[in-house]
Amino acid sequence: MTLSIGVLLSGGGSNLQSIIDHIEQGVLEARIRVVLSNEPKAGGLERAGKHGIQTEVRDHRSYSSRAEHDAALLKVLQAAGVEVVCLAGYMRLLGKTLVRAYPGRILNIHPALLPSFPGLDAQQQAADYGVRISGATVHFVDEFLDHGPVIIQAAVPAYPEEDRGELARRILALEHRIYPQALQWLARDRLRLADGRVHLQPEDDGLVLDSSPQSFLVNPPLEWGF
Ligand code: GAR
Repeated sequence: MTLSIGVLLSGGGSNLQSIIDHIEQGVLEARIRVVLSNEPKAGGLERAGKHGIQTEVRDHRSYSSRAEHDAALLKVLQAAGVEVVCLAGYMRLLGKTLVRAYPGRILNIHPALLPSFPGLDAQQQAADYGVRISGATVHFVDEFLDHGPVIIQAAVPAYPEEDRGELARRILALEHRIYPQALQWLARDRLRLADGRVHLQPEDDGLVLDSSPQSFLVNPPLEWGF
């Protein structure tokens, strides 16, 4: 099935670009119906325009409440025939009305291993805490901030000595891979939600669980004998 996607963003839109690229490469069966921003100057709008995708701006500062702003977003999404909403650097909390209009059909990407470090500047939060492993999460969205059933996570090592921008760059490179993958699973109807958790259905008779002994990340690395 070809997913009809609406992308909500507030910034540069590198995740949008990655979704576009995977669609154009033919590995993601989706079509972006509209790119919608609350920030008139979001770089993602220009990216969308270059690919002939409809863009819309609904500046939250022009509305007197979150509910009114959300209603305006919903109107755009519905008019464009959007079935699945992707938050791609959309830096505002969604209200109940919007979340309930798309039950189990809103996804978000966050640059940390949720439930650790929700909110703004997650990479800095992780670096400040001194974690040795961080990463990115794609999840279904509920009414709470950066919260909801996890679809896929990717982990990267974090080093206290490095510039925090380096960690953000390593995480972003993986964001660009895991978001399109999660969407393709949705397009193929392979995600099942049960008891608040997401289960990935095998493609055919394929095995989904990776039980390979290499399937872990330890940082700093284990030394000889451990
Ligand atoms: C991404 O790192 C995304 O994970 C993050 O905003 C950035 C947007 O970058 N989202 C959040 O922090 C959501 N809480 P982009 O505009 O280049 O895709």
